[in-house]
Amino acid sequence: MDKNNLPKHVGIIMDGNGRWATERGMKRSMGHKAGSENLKELCDHIYDLGIPILSVFAFSTENFKRDVQEVNYLMNLFIQMFEKEFAFLKKKDVRVIFSGRRDNLPANVLKAMDKMSKETENCKHAIFNVCLNYGGQYEILDMAKEIAQEVEEGKITSKDIDLTTVRSHLYQDLPDLDLVIRTSGEQRISNFMLYQSAYAEYYFPKTYFPDFNAHEFDLAIEEYQRRTRKFGG
Ligand code: IPE
Ligand code: IPE
Ligand code: MG
Repeated sequence: MDKNNLPKHVGIIMDGNGRWATERGMKRSMGHKAGSENLKELCDHIYDLGIPILSVFAFSTENFKRDVQEVNYLMNLFIQMFEKEFAFLKKKDVRVIFSGRRDNLPANVLKAMDKMSKETENCKHAIFNVCLNYGGQYEILDMAKEIAQEVEEGKITSKDIDLTTVRSHLYQDLPDLDLVIRTSGEQRISNFMLYQSAYAEYYFPKTYFPDFNAHEFDLAIEEYQRRTRKFGG
């Protein structure tokens, strides 16, 4: 791996937790638990490598369609992660931010999210962007509404709207994704960071997320480094 040619912003669509558990005769929730443990180890590895921004897809706006027990399990898991399991990120000087809609999320989940972002707000080494209750189409809709509101209030005129305006009204003002990894063999984006993945390289390993370890991540980076990026030029 060439440490001088690392992607600046990596996105991971953490898919396959359910199948990982079902194939072992376990409940789907055990797959989510294993996935969260794997994420801890991956974060450790990714920030040690020196990758400055990691965005992970933790829960989509569409995931509320799932069985209420699975949704509740996930919500409680998020609380545990932000209150306890992911406290090590502060020690690694990683700032935790969230992308997504706040409505529909239980108050105790929002509280844990707010605490985590407040506690790490001055961290400088890297950024961990958690997409939770996130949908790429809603992000674009919410951006359009915010800009329309500013026009209505006379803060800007429609002539002023450019790509900088658009980017600054997304959930987070981050650079575009360089690499998007979706585990579990599915080859679709499922509403993940649509705007930010305009020129991203895609990588689709067959491994289910709980087994997608540091070594597999390094293979993804090596594949990324073999690609030729052109940006239309
Ligand atoms: C991804 O794993 C985690 C979430 C969507 C929260 P899945 O739960 O989608 O696992 P599969 O795709 O059913 O195996
Ligand atoms: C995408 O996975 C969302 C997350 C990983 C959080 P899904 O499992 O929900 O996506 P589909 O339904 O297979 O497209
Ligand atoms: Mg899935």
